[in-house]
Amino acid sequence: MNQIKGRRILLIGGCGFIGHNMALRLKELGAEVSVIDGLSINNVLAFSSMEHDVVNRELYLHFLNQRQEMLRRAGIQVLIQDARDYHALSRLVALVNPQVVVHLAAVSHANKSNKDPYSTFDHSFRTLENALDACRKTVEHFIYFSSSLVYGHFEGGMVSEDSHCEPLGIYGALKFGGEKLVIAYNQAFGMDYTIIRPSALYGPRCVSRRVGQVFIENALRGTEISIQGDGSDKLDFTCIDDLVAGMTRVIESPNARNEVFNMTYGAACSLKTMADLIEEHFPGVQAKYVPKDKLMPDRGTLCMDKAKKLLDFTPSWPLERGFPEYIKWYKSLPAELFSTGSKSVMYG
Ligand SMILES: NC(=O)c1ccc[n+]([C@@H]2O[C@H](COP(=O)([O-])OP(=O)(O)OC[C@H]3O[C@@H](n4cnc5c(N)ncnc54)[C@H](O)[C@@H]3O)[C@@H](O)[C@H]2O)c1
Repeated sequence: MNQIKGRRILLIGGCGFIGHNMALRLKELGAEVSVIDGLSINNVLAFSSMEHDVVNRELYLHFLNQRQEMLRRAGIQVLIQDARDYHALSRLVALVNPQVVVHLAAVSHANKSNKDPYSTFDHSFRTLENALDACRKTVEHFIYFSSSLVYGHFEGGMVSEDSHCEPLGIYGALKFGGEKLVIAYNQAFGMDYTIIRPSALYGPRCVSRRVGQVFIENALRGTEISIQGDGSDKLDFTCIDDLVAGMTRVIESPNARNEVFNMTYGAACSLKTMADLIEEHFPGVQAKYVPKDKLMPDRGTLCMDKAKKLLDFTPSWPLERGFPEYIKWYKSLPAELFSTGSKSVMYG
Protein backbone atom coordinates (compact mmCIF):
# COMPACT_ATOMS: atom_id res chain seq x y z
CA MET A 1 0.00 0.00 0.00
CA ASN A 2 1.08 3.58 -0.71
CA GLN A 3 0.45 5.58 2.45
CA ILE A 4 -1.51 8.77 1.82
CA LYS A 5 0.08 10.40 4.86
CA GLY A 6 3.08 12.45 3.79
CA ARG A 7 2.52 11.78 0.08
CA ARG A 8 3.11 14.77 -2.21
CA ILE A 9 -0.01 15.04 -4.35
CA LEU A 10 -0.63 17.72 -6.99
CA LEU A 11 -4.12 18.36 -8.39
CA ILE A 12 -4.18 20.22 -11.72
CA GLY A 13 -7.61 21.84 -12.01
CA GLY A 14 -7.83 21.35 -8.25
CA CYS A 15 -10.04 24.37 -7.49
CA GLY A 16 -12.89 22.74 -9.42
CA PHE A 17 -15.81 20.83 -7.93
CA ILE A 18 -14.07 17.45 -7.75
CA GLY A 19 -10.60 18.90 -7.16
CA HIS A 20 -11.30 20.99 -4.08
CA ASN A 21 -13.26 18.15 -2.45
CA MET A 22 -10.42 15.71 -3.13
CA ALA A 23 -7.78 18.19 -1.95
CA LEU A 24 -9.55 18.74 1.38
CA ARG A 25 -9.98 15.02 2.05
CA LEU A 26 -6.40 14.12 1.09
CA LYS A 27 -5.10 16.88 3.34
CA GLU A 28 -7.25 15.54 6.19
CA LEU A 29 -5.61 12.15 5.63
CA GLY A 30 -2.18 13.72 6.01
CA ALA A 31 -1.05 14.17 2.39
CA GLU A 32 1.03 17.16 1.31
CA VAL A 33 -1.49 18.58 -1.17
CA SER A 34 -0.86 21.29 -3.78
CA VAL A 35 -3.25 22.65 -6.37
CA ILE A 36 -2.69 24.31 -9.74
CA ASP A 37 -5.68 26.06 -11.30
CA GLY A 38 -6.20 28.94 -13.73
CA LEU A 39 -9.63 29.77 -12.22
CA SER A 40 -10.88 30.94 -15.61
CA ILE A 41 -13.07 28.00 -16.71
CA ASN A 42 -16.24 27.33 -14.72
CA ASN A 43 -14.58 29.14 -11.83
CA VAL A 44 -14.18 32.54 -10.15
CA LEU A 45 -12.83 34.50 -13.13
CA ALA A 46 -15.51 33.19 -15.49
CA PHE A 47 -18.35 34.10 -13.13
CA SER A 48 -16.78 37.44 -12.10
CA SER A 49 -16.56 38.61 -15.69
CA MET A 50 -20.12 37.62 -16.63
CA GLU A 51 -22.86 40.23 -16.91
CA HIS A 52 -24.92 40.79 -13.79
CA ASP A 53 -28.10 39.09 -15.03
CA VAL A 54 -26.43 35.67 -15.37
CA VAL A 55 -28.48 33.16 -13.42
CA ASN A 56 -27.18 32.48 -9.93
CA ARG A 57 -24.06 34.56 -10.41
CA GLU A 58 -24.01 35.67 -6.76
CA LEU A 59 -24.78 32.18 -5.50
CA TYR A 60 -22.05 30.55 -7.57
CA LEU A 61 -19.47 33.19 -6.69
CA HIS A 62 -20.36 32.48 -3.07
CA PHE A 63 -19.71 28.73 -3.57
CA LEU A 64 -16.47 29.41 -5.46
CA ASN A 65 -15.16 31.80 -2.81
CA GLN A 66 -16.10 29.25 -0.17
CA ARG A 67 -13.95 26.65 -1.95
CA GLN A 68 -10.93 28.98 -1.95
CA GLU A 69 -11.46 29.82 1.70
CA MET A 70 -11.69 26.13 2.65
CA LEU A 71 -8.49 25.34 0.76
CA ARG A 72 -6.73 28.28 2.41
CA ARG A 73 -7.90 27.31 5.90
CA ALA A 74 -6.77 23.72 5.35
CA GLY A 75 -3.29 25.02 4.53
CA ILE A 76 -3.34 23.70 0.96
CA GLN A 77 -0.92 25.40 -1.42
CA VAL A 78 -2.92 26.92 -4.32
CA LEU A 79 -0.87 28.00 -7.34
CA ILE A 80 -2.83 30.12 -9.80
CA GLN A 81 -1.59 29.17 -13.26
CA ASP A 82 -3.09 28.42 -16.64
CA ALA A 83 -1.94 24.88 -17.48
CA ARG A 84 -1.94 25.69 -21.21
CA ASP A 85 1.41 27.41 -20.62
CA TYR A 86 3.82 24.46 -20.85
CA HIS A 87 6.89 26.22 -19.47
CA ALA A 88 5.10 27.81 -16.52
CA LEU A 89 3.39 24.51 -15.69
CA SER A 90 6.71 22.61 -15.90
CA ARG A 91 8.33 25.09 -13.50
CA LEU A 92 5.52 24.60 -10.96
CA VAL A 93 5.61 20.82 -11.27
CA ALA A 94 9.37 20.95 -10.60
CA LEU A 95 8.76 23.25 -7.61
CA VAL A 96 6.10 21.00 -6.04
CA ASN A 97 7.97 17.80 -7.01
CA PRO A 98 4.85 15.62 -6.60
CA GLN A 99 4.80 11.83 -6.35
CA VAL A 100 1.19 11.72 -7.58
CA VAL A 101 -0.47 14.05 -10.09
CA VAL A 102 -4.23 14.13 -10.68
CA HIS A 103 -5.26 15.83 -13.92
CA LEU A 104 -8.73 17.36 -13.66
CA ALA A 105 -8.39 20.55 -15.75
CA ALA A 106 -10.92 20.58 -18.59
CA VAL A 107 -14.03 22.15 -20.00
CA SER A 108 -16.07 19.72 -17.94
CA HIS A 109 -19.42 19.96 -19.76
CA ALA A 110 -20.43 17.97 -22.82
CA ASN A 111 -22.87 20.68 -23.98
CA LYS A 112 -20.31 23.49 -23.72
CA SER A 113 -17.67 21.34 -25.45
CA ASN A 114 -19.92 20.70 -28.43
CA LYS A 115 -20.49 24.45 -28.78
CA ASP A 116 -16.85 25.44 -28.39
CA PRO A 117 -14.48 22.68 -29.57
CA TYR A 118 -11.47 25.01 -29.91
CA SER A 119 -11.51 26.10 -26.29
CA THR A 120 -12.30 22.56 -25.13
CA PHE A 121 -9.29 21.15 -26.97
CA ASP A 122 -7.10 23.85 -25.43
CA HIS A 123 -8.22 23.47 -21.82
CA SER A 124 -8.75 19.72 -21.87
CA PHE A 125 -6.27 18.18 -24.31
CA ARG A 126 -3.49 20.80 -24.45
CA THR A 127 -3.38 20.96 -20.65
CA LEU A 128 -3.24 17.16 -20.46
CA GLU A 129 -0.34 16.91 -22.90
CA ASN A 130 1.53 19.66 -21.03
CA ALA A 131 0.96 17.90 -17.72
CA LEU A 132 2.05 14.50 -19.03
CA ASP A 133 5.22 15.96 -20.46
CA ALA A 134 6.01 18.00 -17.36
CA CYS A 135 5.54 14.89 -15.19
CA ARG A 136 7.05 12.09 -17.24
CA LYS A 137 10.56 12.13 -15.73
CA THR A 138 9.78 12.45 -12.04
CA VAL A 139 6.17 11.56 -11.21
CA GLU A 140 5.38 8.05 -9.91
CA HIS A 141 1.66 7.99 -10.65
CA PHE A 142 -0.41 10.08 -13.07
CA ILE A 143 -4.19 9.96 -12.62
CA TYR A 144 -6.41 11.17 -15.45
CA PHE A 145 -10.07 12.14 -15.13
CA SER A 146 -11.89 10.81 -18.17
CA SER A 147 -15.68 10.38 -18.34
CA SER A 148 -18.54 7.93 -18.79
CA LEU A 149 -19.11 9.68 -22.14
CA VAL A 150 -16.21 7.73 -23.71
CA TYR A 151 -18.59 4.76 -24.00
CA GLY A 152 -21.20 6.54 -26.16
CA HIS A 153 -24.54 4.68 -26.02
CA PHE A 154 -24.43 2.08 -23.22
CA GLU A 155 -25.24 -1.26 -24.79
CA GLY A 156 -27.83 -3.07 -22.65
CA GLY A 157 -27.90 -0.17 -20.16
CA MET A 158 -24.67 -1.17 -18.41
CA VAL A 159 -20.96 -0.81 -19.21
CA SER A 160 -17.81 -2.22 -17.69
CA GLU A 161 -14.28 -0.97 -18.32
CA ASP A 162 -13.74 -3.39 -21.20
CA SER A 163 -16.96 -2.42 -23.01
CA HIS A 164 -16.48 -0.99 -26.49
CA CYS A 165 -15.99 2.82 -26.54
CA GLU A 166 -17.77 4.76 -29.28
CA PRO A 167 -17.95 8.38 -28.00
CA LEU A 168 -20.51 10.82 -29.36
CA GLY A 169 -19.56 14.49 -29.77
CA ILE A 170 -16.52 16.60 -28.92
CA TYR A 171 -16.32 16.04 -25.16
CA GLY A 172 -16.38 12.24 -25.31
CA ALA A 173 -13.97 12.14 -28.25
CA LEU A 174 -11.43 14.35 -26.45
CA LYS A 175 -11.75 12.31 -23.25
CA PHE A 176 -11.18 9.08 -25.18
CA GLY A 177 -8.23 10.66 -27.03
CA GLY A 178 -6.91 11.78 -23.64
CA GLU A 179 -7.03 8.21 -22.34
CA LYS A 180 -4.99 7.04 -25.34
CA LEU A 181 -2.42 9.79 -24.77
CA VAL A 182 -2.04 8.84 -21.10
CA ILE A 183 -1.47 5.20 -22.09
CA ALA A 184 1.02 6.29 -24.77
CA TYR A 185 3.08 8.17 -22.16
CA ASN A 186 3.20 4.97 -20.13
CA GLN A 187 4.34 3.01 -23.19
CA ALA A 188 6.98 5.58 -24.16
CA PHE A 189 8.27 6.66 -20.74
CA GLY A 190 7.06 4.08 -18.22
CA MET A 191 5.06 6.57 -16.10
CA ASP A 192 2.35 4.66 -14.17
CA TYR A 193 -1.20 5.88 -14.75
CA THR A 194 -4.79 5.35 -13.68
CA ILE A 195 -7.75 6.41 -15.80
CA ILE A 196 -10.97 7.31 -13.98
CA ARG A 197 -14.41 7.32 -15.60
CA PRO A 198 -16.90 9.18 -13.36
CA SER A 199 -20.48 10.13 -14.16
CA ALA A 200 -23.17 12.63 -13.11
CA LEU A 201 -21.67 13.86 -9.85
CA TYR A 202 -23.56 15.95 -7.36
CA GLY A 203 -22.75 17.62 -4.05
CA PRO A 204 -22.21 20.93 -2.24
CA ARG A 205 -20.46 23.87 -3.90
CA CYS A 206 -20.91 22.56 -7.46
CA VAL A 207 -21.53 25.32 -10.04
CA SER A 208 -21.86 23.10 -13.11
CA ARG A 209 -25.68 23.15 -13.29
CA ARG A 210 -26.03 19.44 -13.87
CA VAL A 211 -29.57 18.12 -13.79
CA GLY A 212 -29.99 17.48 -10.04
CA GLN A 213 -28.61 20.89 -9.11
CA VAL A 214 -30.96 22.71 -11.49
CA PHE A 215 -33.93 20.69 -10.21
CA ILE A 216 -33.16 21.75 -6.63
CA GLU A 217 -32.50 25.40 -7.49
CA ASN A 218 -35.71 25.67 -9.52
CA ALA A 219 -37.73 23.95 -6.81
CA LEU A 220 -36.31 26.33 -4.20
CA ARG A 221 -37.38 29.28 -6.32
CA GLY A 222 -40.81 27.76 -6.95
CA THR A 223 -40.26 27.43 -10.72
CA GLU A 224 -40.95 24.27 -12.74
CA ILE A 225 -38.31 21.64 -13.48
CA SER A 226 -37.53 20.50 -17.04
CA ILE A 227 -36.97 16.83 -17.74
CA GLN A 228 -35.19 15.96 -20.99
CA GLY A 229 -36.93 13.10 -22.84
CA ASP A 230 -39.80 11.19 -21.21
CA GLY A 231 -38.11 10.78 -17.80
CA SER A 232 -37.04 7.18 -18.39
CA ASP A 233 -33.41 8.08 -19.23
CA LYS A 234 -31.13 6.70 -16.56
CA LEU A 235 -27.89 8.09 -15.18
CA ASP A 236 -25.46 6.66 -12.63
CA PHE A 237 -25.79 9.64 -10.26
CA THR A 238 -22.79 9.74 -7.95
CA CYS A 239 -22.34 11.55 -4.66
CA ILE A 240 -19.03 13.44 -4.45
CA ASP A 241 -18.22 11.63 -1.17
CA ASP A 242 -18.20 8.27 -2.95
CA LEU A 243 -15.91 9.55 -5.68
CA VAL A 244 -13.49 11.04 -3.17
CA ALA A 245 -13.44 7.82 -1.12
CA GLY A 246 -12.78 5.80 -4.29
CA MET A 247 -9.97 8.16 -5.29
CA THR A 248 -8.13 7.67 -2.01
CA ARG A 249 -8.16 3.93 -2.76
CA VAL A 250 -6.78 4.64 -6.25
CA ILE A 251 -3.85 6.54 -4.73
CA GLU A 252 -3.25 3.95 -2.00
CA SER A 253 -3.59 0.71 -3.88
CA PRO A 254 -0.80 -0.68 -6.09
CA ASN A 255 -3.59 -2.53 -7.94
CA ALA A 256 -4.73 0.80 -9.40
CA ARG A 257 -1.58 1.21 -11.47
CA ASN A 258 -2.01 1.12 -15.24
CA GLU A 259 -5.72 0.38 -15.03
CA VAL A 260 -8.98 2.03 -16.07
CA PHE A 261 -11.78 2.30 -13.49
CA ASN A 262 -15.40 3.28 -13.57
CA MET A 263 -15.91 5.45 -10.47
CA THR A 264 -19.62 5.96 -9.82
CA TYR A 265 -22.30 4.72 -7.42
CA GLY A 266 -22.76 1.73 -9.69
CA ALA A 267 -26.55 1.75 -10.19
CA ALA A 268 -28.42 4.04 -12.56
CA CYS A 269 -31.59 5.94 -11.60
CA SER A 270 -34.09 7.49 -13.96
CA LEU A 271 -34.67 11.25 -14.24
CA LYS A 272 -38.23 10.54 -13.13
CA THR A 273 -36.91 8.97 -9.90
CA MET A 274 -34.86 12.10 -9.26
CA ALA A 275 -37.88 14.29 -10.04
CA ASP A 276 -39.94 12.21 -7.57
CA LEU A 277 -37.34 12.88 -4.85
CA ILE A 278 -37.67 16.59 -5.62
CA GLU A 279 -41.46 16.35 -5.34
CA GLU A 280 -41.07 14.63 -1.94
CA HIS A 281 -38.97 17.51 -0.62
CA PHE A 282 -40.74 20.33 -2.47
CA PRO A 283 -44.44 19.31 -2.60
CA GLY A 284 -46.33 20.86 -5.51
CA VAL A 285 -43.32 21.45 -7.77
CA GLN A 286 -44.32 21.26 -11.47
CA ALA A 287 -42.39 19.21 -14.04
CA LYS A 288 -42.33 19.70 -17.81
CA TYR A 289 -40.87 17.42 -20.46
CA VAL A 290 -38.54 18.81 -23.17
CA PRO A 291 -36.71 17.12 -26.10
CA LYS A 292 -33.43 15.38 -25.35
CA ASP A 293 -30.09 16.72 -26.71
CA LYS A 294 -29.22 14.61 -29.79
CA LEU A 295 -25.53 14.40 -28.80
CA MET A 296 -26.34 12.92 -25.39
CA PRO A 297 -26.01 9.12 -25.54
CA ASP A 298 -28.39 6.68 -23.85
CA ARG A 299 -26.58 5.82 -20.68
CA GLY A 300 -27.20 3.77 -17.55
CA THR A 301 -25.05 1.95 -15.01
CA LEU A 302 -21.26 1.90 -14.89
CA CYS A 303 -20.38 -1.48 -13.40
CA MET A 304 -18.27 -1.06 -10.26
CA ASP A 305 -17.13 -4.71 -9.95
CA LYS A 306 -13.56 -3.95 -10.98
CA ALA A 307 -13.13 -1.21 -8.33
CA LYS A 308 -14.68 -3.54 -5.74
CA LYS A 309 -12.33 -6.38 -6.66
CA LEU A 310 -9.03 -4.55 -7.26
CA LEU A 311 -9.41 -1.58 -4.91
CA ASP A 312 -11.66 -3.10 -2.27
CA PHE A 313 -13.93 -0.08 -2.73
CA THR A 314 -17.71 -0.14 -2.39
CA PRO A 315 -19.68 3.10 -2.83
CA SER A 316 -22.13 3.86 -0.05
CA TRP A 317 -24.28 6.77 -1.24
CA PRO A 318 -27.31 5.68 -3.31
CA LEU A 319 -29.32 8.58 -4.74
CA GLU A 320 -32.09 8.04 -2.15
CA ARG A 321 -29.50 8.73 0.57
CA GLY A 322 -27.19 11.29 -1.04
CA PHE A 323 -29.66 13.51 -2.89
CA PRO A 324 -31.76 14.39 0.20
CA GLU A 325 -28.51 15.40 1.95
CA TYR A 326 -27.73 17.68 -0.99
CA ILE A 327 -31.23 19.17 -0.79
CA LYS A 328 -30.77 19.69 2.96
CA TRP A 329 -27.53 21.55 2.32
CA TYR A 330 -29.26 23.82 -0.24
CA LYS A 331 -32.11 24.52 2.17
CA SER A 332 -29.59 25.66 4.80
CA LEU A 333 -28.26 28.46 2.54
CA PRO A 334 -29.38 32.08 3.08
CA ALA A 335 -32.40 32.85 0.85
CA GLU A 336 -30.88 36.13 -0.39
CA LEU A 337 -28.26 34.17 -2.34
CA PHE A 338 -30.90 33.07 -4.84
CA SER A 339 -31.84 35.14 -7.86
CA THR A 340 -34.60 34.35 -10.36
CA GLY A 341 -34.33 33.02 -13.91
CA SER A 342 -33.41 29.72 -15.51
CA LYS A 343 -30.82 28.52 -17.97
CA SER A 344 -29.86 25.31 -19.75
CA VAL A 345 -29.33 22.07 -17.86
CA MET A 346 -26.10 20.07 -18.11
CA TYR A 347 -26.40 16.32 -18.38
CA GLY A 348 -22.62 15.64 -18.64
N1 LIG B 1 -18.40 16.49 -12.41
C1 LIG B 1 -18.77 15.43 -13.13
O1 LIG B 1 -19.93 14.94 -13.05
C2 LIG B 1 -17.79 14.77 -14.08
C3 LIG B 1 -18.20 13.63 -14.77
C4 LIG B 1 -17.29 13.03 -15.64
C5 LIG B 1 -16.01 13.55 -15.80
N2 LIG B 1 -15.64 14.66 -15.12
C6 LIG B 1 -14.28 15.19 -15.35
O2 LIG B 1 -13.62 15.40 -14.10
C7 LIG B 1 -12.77 16.55 -14.18
C8 LIG B 1 -13.12 17.54 -13.07
O3 LIG B 1 -14.51 17.87 -13.17
P1 LIG B 1 -15.19 18.99 -12.26
O4 LIG B 1 -16.62 18.65 -12.16
O5 LIG B 1 -14.38 19.19 -11.03
O6 LIG B 1 -15.03 20.26 -13.22
P2 LIG B 1 -14.86 21.80 -12.84
O7 LIG B 1 -15.23 22.56 -14.07
O8 LIG B 1 -15.55 22.11 -11.58
O9 LIG B 1 -13.29 21.93 -12.58
C9 LIG B 1 -12.33 22.02 -13.60
C10 LIG B 1 -11.22 22.95 -13.09
O10 LIG B 1 -10.18 22.98 -14.08
C11 LIG B 1 -9.69 24.30 -14.15
N3 LIG B 1 -9.10 24.53 -15.47
C12 LIG B 1 -9.71 24.46 -16.68
N4 LIG B 1 -8.85 24.81 -17.65
C13 LIG B 1 -7.67 25.08 -17.03
C14 LIG B 1 -6.40 25.52 -17.49
N5 LIG B 1 -6.19 25.77 -18.78
N6 LIG B 1 -5.42 25.69 -16.58
C15 LIG B 1 -5.64 25.47 -15.26
N7 LIG B 1 -6.82 25.09 -14.77
C16 LIG B 1 -7.82 24.90 -15.64
C17 LIG B 1 -10.92 25.18 -13.93
O11 LIG B 1 -10.54 26.49 -13.50
C18 LIG B 1 -11.69 24.39 -12.88
O12 LIG B 1 -11.38 24.82 -11.57
C19 LIG B 1 -12.96 17.14 -15.58
O13 LIG B 1 -11.93 16.66 -16.40
C20 LIG B 1 -14.29 16.57 -16.01
O14 LIG B 1 -14.38 16.49 -17.41
C21 LIG B 1 -16.49 15.30 -14.26
